[in-house]
Amino acid sequence: MKVTVVGAGAVGATCADNIARRQICEELVILDIKEGLAEGKAADMMQTATLCGFDTKVSGSTNDYSKTANSDVVVITSGIPRKPGMTREELIGTNAQIVKGVTDNILKHSPNAIIIVISNPMDTMTYLALKSSGLPKNRIIGMGGILDSARFKFNLSNALNCSPNDLQGVVIGGHGDTTMIPLTRYATYNSVAVSELLDAETLAKVSADTMVGGATLTKLLGTSAWYAPGAAGAALVESIVRDQKKLFPCCVALDGEYGQSDICLGVPVIIGKNGWEKIIDYKLNEAEQAEFNKSAQSVRDMNEVLSTLTLA
Ligand code: 2OP
Repeated sequence: MKVTVVGAGAVGATCADNIARRQICEELVILDIKEGLAEGKAADMMQTATLCGFDTKVSGSTNDYSKTANSDVVVITSGIPRKPGMTREELIGTNAQIVKGVTDNILKHSPNAIIIVISNPMDTMTYLALKSSGLPKNRIIGMGGILDSARFKFNLSNALNCSPNDLQGVVIGGHGDTTMIPLTRYATYNSVAVSELLDAETLAKVSADTMVGGATLTKLLGTSAWYAPGAAGAALVESIVRDQKKLFPCCVALDGEYGQSDICLGVPVIIGKNGWEKIIDYKLNEAEQAEFNKSAQSVRDMNEVLSTLTLA
């Protein structure tokens, strides 16, 4: 199996490092527009092979897409990250141009690839990749909900003083500070509903902290986070390459599911060798459905900005 990660910045490099260390594929290419950056990071990673014990062959390329040919999975992380105080949505103009160009170039050399989009604003960039590529919908997956759910479980574990690995929790909706929806009603601690263990005020704080999880890190770091976003991208790649059929909340094209159409939005899906294979229908109550519809409306407004841009 061959995987390409486009963008050798912090998220792309961390994603690639996770893929290599866990030996998810035989061949891994990192591509970046900045001269030498991808080659340097790939060589640095390869020099950990004997230390970490992996055989994945990692190579780098400065914008030469022929090196990515016949990739089975491609992760797009390219674009500018947000700075403190910025929303993910403010990145749209610059990143739409970049994501469209990368998608076109990738498909010239890897027409059968499954594409994972990490670039922000992710829901809109996923929609753009779907529309501009014309690929079957199951081959375009936006990475957001899996990361937001990891942050949700981390925040819950702090509130419960337990291991995050003993928790189940899912965040659906958009990957934006005001559009994501942590489904507290469905979250469990070893099968016990967390709502039986935490009071409503604590649960509301866990949700609020989760929604601004990325922004909180951006403030601390001066740029957006990379460890969890990179690891989340690698987990998606692994479920595809190993056909694990894991259930992850991901941004996918909805066609009536959850009451929405002509939009890419975060819902629980099964991830396997065909990309996203099935949407799982969590029964939302009235309030959750209303939040989901509100989230869809904000993402739809953002998608409309795409039509005002001239994308080469
Ligand atoms: C985040 O939430 C990078 O959007 C990503 O950290």
